[in-house]
Amino acid sequence: MKGVREGWGRLWVCWTLCAASFPGIAADNGAALFAERCAPCHQPQGQGLDGRYPPLTHLEDWLATEDGRHYIARVVMHGFAGPIEVGEQTYDGLMLTYRWRLKDPQIMAVLNYVAETLNTPPSGYVPFDLSLLGSIRAQKMPDAEVMALRNRLPAR
Ligand code: HEC
Repeated sequence: MKGVREGWGRLWVCWTLCAASFPGIAADNGAALFAERCAPCHQPQGQGLDGRYPPLTHLEDWLATEDGRHYIARVVMHGFAGPIEVGEQTYDGLMLTYRWRLKDPQIMAVLNYVAETLNTPPSGYVPFDLSLLGSIRAQKMPDAEVMALRNRLPAR
């Protein structure tokens, strides 16, 4: 019996250590990913920090259109460098690139959390899916083009 118990004990220790060394494996949960990966800058409710990190709320007009959703997915997949305006504030910071840090299902989960929990999905909204993320992953645009895409969207 002792041997069996030790065996389970070792398995538990191994499982705990493995789970701790690969935190990404367990987390396909949008809320958890947001808290871990986005909230340090964009803040826990996505409210942003004046002049430093733009809010991820008030995205409804963008979520309603395909161009808007493409822009949002593109910025998270490939990163982006300003300057941008949101409301009365100007931001000229650096948005990180997530294409190496997160897999597509995780990017999908976090974007759907932003869209559906931090924002109120507007009519015309379609959830982010793997086919959109796959095509955006495959094609990185120069920042100037991403900026042009943003400038075609309604001000927010
Ligand atoms: C290290 C800080 C940091 C982290 C972490 C971060 N961001 Fe950002 N993000 C920024 C900054 C700064 C900008 C504005 C970039 C600029 O000035 O052009 C930005 C811009 C954005 C934008 C575009 C906003 C707009 O109005 O154009 C989106 C969408 C976004 N981030 C989503 C996310 C998501 C989702 C995560 C988590 C997966 C995340 N960010 C993690 C700093 C961060």
